[in-house]
Order: sequence, then structure tokens, then C-alpha cells
Amino acid sequence: MHNEDISLKPLIAPSILSANFARLGEDVKDVLDAGADIIHFDAMDNHFVSNLTFGPLICEALRKFGIKAPIDVHLMMKPVDNIIPAFIEAGASYISFHPEATPNVEKTLDLIRENGCKCGLAFSPETSLDVLECVIDKVDIILIMSVDPGFGAQSFISSSLAKLSQAKKIIQSSGKNIRLEIDGGVNIENISEIAAAGADTFVAGSAIFGSNNYTSTINSMRNKINKNQY
Ligand code: DX5
Ligand code: ZN
Repeated sequence: MHNEDISLKPLIAPSILSANFARLGEDVKDVLDAGADIIHFDAMDNHFVSNLTFGPLICEALRKFGIKAPIDVHLMMKPVDNIIPAFIEAGASYISFHPEATPNVEKTLDLIRENGCKCGLAFSPETSLDVLECVIDKVDIILIMSVDPGFGAQSFISSSLAKLSQAKKIIQSSGKNIRLEIDGGVNIENISEIAAAGADTFVAGSAIFGSNNYTSTINSMRNKINKNQY
């Protein structure tokens, strides 16, 4: 297991979808040395979404390379139950999936938890948060997608701010330490309002890996988050 501590300090999670795949281990190390907290791992299957990326073997390769930071797996795959044990075995720290990707959300959450991993639900822009009512006691992280799943470097969908606030209220009334993650189109310009809307875990792919200086980009993001956190 590679779990981070339980406090809800803001976490910056570079998405390796925008990393240099030809030197993935080094690029992930560089972004962690630059101050990133966790690594966001977008697993896509050319079925649930049209894009195709990477699976458990690459997660395991990062662990073997020496990456110790939490790995935050975002499954954009359907079905998910068969692949989850392989991701846990490969060293995933968090595994989030989309509720549409499984016939039984509760059972899939249990499958992740029973194997010692933190679990989450990921919500596409058009998906309602209603399912949370039934399973809020079983989730460690709620991932709000602020772009359509499938590709990096899209523009932030502004209605995601209201959805973040809605999710934040659900978390507050649960009384649980559930993380609230925003994913898609996050950058230095909009991260303040995203933090103010309640997010505490910030995925950024192109804004970090596409920048010339990972350290200064991450520092700027962190400063803006700290000034605006909910
Ligand atoms: C999109 C992925 C995101 C994406 C974020 O399907 O889930 O994690 O990589 O990339 P940016 O930050 O470039 O929008
Ligand atoms: Zn993602």
C-alpha cells in the first residue's frame, strides 16, 4: 500500500496523460521533485472512451522505477471489476471509476476497499451526483470531471464549479474526510475559483507537463489554492 496521510491538505496531482511517455519514469520523478503530491493515472480503454492509454503494467513499472508517491488511478474503462485487482497489485493508491461503468457501484467500491486501496467515484460533466446518496459511506474521494473524459488539454467547463459546491455540501453533511478532486482544464488562471468552490485535490495535465518549469507552475498553483481554499 502507498497511502498518503489522512488530513485534507490540498494535493496537486499531475496527470501523466500529458507526460513524455518515452521517458515516463524520469518525467514522473521530475514532477514529484518539483513539488507534486500525487500522480494522476488516466487509464482509458477505447471503449468507455475513444482514447487508449495505459494499464496496470505501466503502474507497476512506475513503482519498480522507484516512484513512492500515491498513484491516483482514474479508470475510464468499462467494465472495471476484472481489472481492479491488477491495479491494486500494481501499486495503485486510489482507484476511481465512473458509476456507469459497473452494474453494481457498491460491490465495485467494496472490491477496491477490501483489497486495501482507497476508492472513488468519478463523475462526467453530464452525470448527476445522485448515486452518492446510497454509497457516500464507502467513498474516499469524489472526482468531478470538468471536461468530457477521454483527452487532455480541453477547456474547463465552468458549470463544474457549481457541481463542486454541490459535492462539497454532500461531503460536509456526511461528516467524513472525503477528498474532492477536480479533473480537466485546470490551470494557474482558474485554480483559485476551483479551490474556492471546494476542491482539495487538483488534477492538472497539460498545464503542468506542458510548462517549461514544473516547479514554478506547481508553486504558483499552490499559492493560489492556499489563498482561496474553501
Ligand atoms: C481526461 C482526464 C484528465 C486529463 C486532464 O479524460 O481524465 O485527467 O488528463 O488533463 P488536462 O489537465 O490537460 O485537462
Ligand atoms: Zn483523470
